Amino acid sequence: MKICKTIDEMRATSRAARHSGKRLGLVPTMGALHDGHLSLMRAAKSKCDAVAASIFINPLQFGPTEDLAKYPRTFDHDVQMLEKESVDILFAPTPVEMYTPGAVTYVTVEGLSDKLCGKSRPGHFRGVATVVAKLFHIVEPDVAFFGQKDAAQATIIRRMVRDLNLPIEIAVCPIVREPDGLAMSSRNVYLSPQDRKSATVLNRSLIEVKQRFDQGERNPTALIKAAKKILAQEPTVRLDYFEIVDPSTLDPAPKLTGPALVAVAAVVGTTRLIDNILLQP
Ligand code: PAF
Repeated sequence: MKICKTIDEMRATSRAARHSGKRLGLVPTMGALHDGHLSLMRAAKSKCDAVAASIFINPLQFGPTEDLAKYPRTFDHDVQMLEKESVDILFAPTPVEMYTPGAVTYVTVEGLSDKLCGKSRPGHFRGVATVVAKLFHIVEPDVAFFGQKDAAQATIIRRMVRDLNLPIEIAVCPIVREPDGLAMSSRNVYLSPQDRKSATVLNRSLIEVKQRFDQGERNPTALIKAAKKILAQEPTVRLDYFEIVDPSTLDPAPKLTGPALVAVAAVVGTTRLIDNILLQP
């Protein structure tokens, strides 16, 4: 695997791959890789001739009181995992390489960036859209792979690609879960054993909604109420939001006549976790 630390090196490497006729896949990550990331690498391997992963803990998407400083950094282990998956290229720039001092240009996806996690994490999606746009310009992939766990992020990136006419296909891959249903996340390592148990309530609340939906319930208010009842079983889990929204606008879905995204965010101990499920009528 070729490791590129600079933008010039990365650009030259991906251009060489594309000029030799290779379809290039990109999997952007912030490292601390787990099986969810590896499923993205495998999807990229199966769809593309060459795969680039990026590892960059993007300061721009963390709020001033968030976990940037303690975000897990496991670079050497990540490299081993990527090599095992036969990833061809790793882009691992420093913050100074990615953000020229004095940079004041951002990408904002208006009307979407302040929904779901955007409400309680102001600036988060602006940071995500900006770094992903930069990664797209540097790597110039044909296809980029993201996880469904960050459903709002995927919606925002799709809209950015559409609005800016970027010639990049966006592939969104299913959530990978632990055997007890907890969605895999780099932040799960923060959970104490007790919090780790409590955290499964997020997935249980989504299963409750799915079951009621499959039995014919179509009233979002009733579904949200049922989910909140499950979440209340774990008093240490502090709910941020539980919403049922249109997956392309992220606006609350008043009637469940089309596909709907059921999304939850909660703080478990000191760790903010998210999860979601898609309902298809
Ligand atoms: O999903 C993530 O890990 C990050 O938000 C991303 C897409 C790599 C941008 O920093």
